[in-house]
Amino acid sequence: MDQIKKESVLTRYSSINELSTADQFLLKEAKHAAEKAYAPYSKFNVGCALLLENGVLIRGSNQENIAYPSGLCAERVAIFYAGSEHPDVPVLTMAITVKAQNYIVDEPIMSCGACLQSISEYEMKFEKPIRMILQGETGEIFISENGTRAFLPFQFFVKQLKL
Ligand code: THU
Repeated sequence: MDQIKKESVLTRYSSINELSTADQFLLKEAKHAAEKAYAPYSKFNVGCALLLENGVLIRGSNQENIAYPSGLCAERVAIFYAGSEHPDVPVLTMAITVKAQNYIVDEPIMSCGACLQSISEYEMKFEKPIRMILQGETGEIFISENGTRAFLPFQFFVKQLKL
């Protein structure tokens, strides 16, 4: 239960101009990624950008499928690509944003539980939280400095699985 004490608080910003230059850049990259989403069914384009410790930038977007569960969220497209192409390099920061095709999303979207669990795997692997920057198409920006802990305080930890 010591997880609770480590639970982080989200920092809220009212404008992208309040972010550091590096965070602004990453959030803009996530917005570019959202333009490349393949979301003909939900019409809900999600974009994700990752900054790796070696300076490499990775972008991902949601990829849907007519057999709905076969599609994948933007976050997992990006983090699995990072894990496969740069297996030894920690992810420092992840920016996530959305651009719905038929309306404006004016608040941050939270990653789904499956994405949070997947992201947390890489936090455990490198023993380092992945900072998360969240924004809708417009509006407030939330930053979690402690990574997935802010959203998944009771997550499944590897130490609980005695292998
Ligand atoms: N989606 C993401 O890409 N990330 C999330 O964290 C939530 C949902 C995608 C999945 C699907 O393509 C669309 O958004 C609507 O659920």
